[in-house]
Amino acid sequence: AARLKGKDFLGLVDYTKEEIEYLIALGIDLKSKLKAGETYQPLKGKTLGMIFEKSSTRTRVSFEVGIYQLGGQPLFLSKNDLQLGRGEPISDTAQVLSRYLDGIMIRTFGHKRVVELARAATVPVINGLSDLSHPCQALADYQTILEKKGRLQGLKVAYIGDGNNMLHSLLVGASKLGIDFAAASPEGYDADPEMVAIAKENARKSGSNVRLVRDPREAAEGADVIYTDVWASMGFEEEQKEREKAFANYQVNEELAKYAKPDYLFMHCLPAHRGEEVSEGVIDGPNSIIFDQAENRLHAQKAIMAAIM
Ligand code: CP
Ligand code: NVA
Repeated sequence: AARLKGKDFLGLVDYTKEEIEYLIALGIDLKSKLKAGETYQPLKGKTLGMIFEKSSTRTRVSFEVGIYQLGGQPLFLSKNDLQLGRGEPISDTAQVLSRYLDGIMIRTFGHKRVVELARAATVPVINGLSDLSHPCQALADYQTILEKKGRLQGLKVAYIGDGNNMLHSLLVGASKLGIDFAAASPEGYDADPEMVAIAKENARKSGSNVRLVRDPREAAEGADVIYTDVWASMGFEEEQKEREKAFANYQVNEELAKYAKPDYLFMHCLPAHRGEEVSEGVIDGPNSIIFDQAENRLHAQKAIMAAIM
């Protein structure tokens, strides 16, 4: 734990298997403390600035409530209000904010911006989603899977859909944690080759099996978890129509779910579009754990903040 103090949380790529397992265990511990009504305030008097250059429901509310529960204070910093929106360099913003705050969370477009902010900041920076990755969500998701299945090693996660931030973080997480992972994306919407290469390298060490295929049925075969995400992520809205065509055969529905294990879990980071990437029957059905995932954002992010701030 002491080792993580001051460390940025930009992606699971920068964390070892043991560190990820430590954060998951801490998230579970903080969750049970909260449920038991126990106050735990290691961040008393500390402040977290949260820069949002994209919309958010879960990330904003769970970080705000999370730091508050840990004894600290959040500051919501929208790009429309910051001088950042008028062209102040991100590195100046980082250095100024570091003089006031104890941590900065940023949600933005290009991942380079997150890295640039972290490089110039002298306080820990948390990636609250970039076009490349969404590590807070993946951490919460692996906590959720562990709680539901009692283990992670040897499970099989199938991801159906866009080769986006969500796929990247889940893929890297699985490859470190020893989880088998199969993703099916349509041509032209594959995962970033650099992330795939990193995951394959991790998988060699952890003993997990990482596969990228075209056929959703092949990915879903024997899966313990079926995960999907929107077809058009934030920043790609104008591609919605062409993406609907490309992803037409990639809907997670009752037909596809038959290929998974009977006790499979359906997961989605939300927000979701019923009737597009997932059928209503699946997302609102008995195998769906979407709200447990959403809840665990709070606990997982409290673990991150408690560890690094
Ligand atoms: N899953 C997730 O990050 O949701 P928000 O966009 O609402 O924060
Ligand atoms: N891939 C989605 C995730 C939203 C939480 C997006 O980037 O919009």
